[in-house]
Amino acid sequence: MIFDTHAHFDAEQFDEDREKLLAVFPVRGVGAVVNVAASLASTRSSLALAEGYDWMFASVGVHPDDVGDLDEAELGWLYEQTKNPKCVAVGEIGLDYYWNKSEKEVQKNWFARQLQMARDVGKPVIIHSREAARDTFEIIREEKAWETGGVMHCYSYSWEMAREYLKMGFYLGIGGVLTFKNGQKLREVVKNAPMEQLVLETDSPYLSPVPYRGKRNSSLYLSYVVEEMAKIKGISPEEVEKITWDNALRLYGLEGRSFAPHSKQ
Ligand code: NI
Repeated sequence: MIFDTHAHFDAEQFDEDREKLLAVFPVRGVGAVVNVAASLASTRSSLALAEGYDWMFASVGVHPDDVGDLDEAELGWLYEQTKNPKCVAVGEIGLDYYWNKSEKEVQKNWFARQLQMARDVGKPVIIHSREAARDTFEIIREEKAWETGGVMHCYSYSWEMAREYLKMGFYLGIGGVLTFKNGQKLREVVKNAPMEQLVLETDSPYLSPVPYRGKRNSSLYLSYVVEEMAKIKGISPEEVEKITWDNALRLYGLEGRSFAPHSKQ
C-alpha cells in the first residue's frame, strides 16, 4: 500500500476527472493521501476534498509564494482550520528564493509565525524550501521546529544538509526527481539516509517520474519512485511500500487512527 504524503488534487488540473481518478486509487494500491494546502483558498479546498474520502487527509498553511498579503486575522482563521479533524499538518510553509514572489523578510516572518502555529496546535510541519537552504535551516533552529517535527518536502539540497534535518528527526519527502537523469544528488541522499526517515510524495500535478516526466502527475505513478528507491536501498518494492507507509503514519500522527483505505465516505 502506498502513502502519498504530498499532493494537490484540489488543483484545477484535476477539475475534469478528479472523482474518477481518485476512485481508482484504493484498487490500484494507493491507500492514503495528504492533500497539501498552499494558500488560504487551498486550505479551504484541501479540507473540503479530504472530508469526502476516509483515506484522505489535509494540511493547513500558506506557501511562501502566497504570504505577500497575509494578515493577523487570516492567521487567526488558519488557527481555527487546524481544529478540523482532517487536518494532520501545517504546510506547506517555508522559503522560496527561486520565485521570490514576496520579499525575503516577509517570507521569513510568515514562515516563523506558521512554525509557531504548528507548535501551538501540536501538528507536524510540511516544509517547502527552494534556493534558501541557509535561511530555512536557521529559522527552523530558532523556532525549535524539531519539537513538532515534520517533513522536508521535495528535498533538493545536499546530503550534508539532509544529515542535519535527519538528526533533528525530520523526514525527507521523496518523489519523481529520484527517477530523473539529473537526480543524482537526490539518489545520493536516499542512499545515505535511514529508510525509517523517508516518505513518498508526488507533489501532483507536478514532478511526474520518468517515463511520465512533464505530464500531469498522480499518486498512481509513485510505483516508479518505489522501484527506484528499492534499487538504491537494495530491498524489495514491497518493503519500500511497507516502511514508507509506517513512516507516513508516524509523521502525520495517524498511528492507531482507524481509517478505511478502501472507502469513500
Ligand atoms: Ni506542493
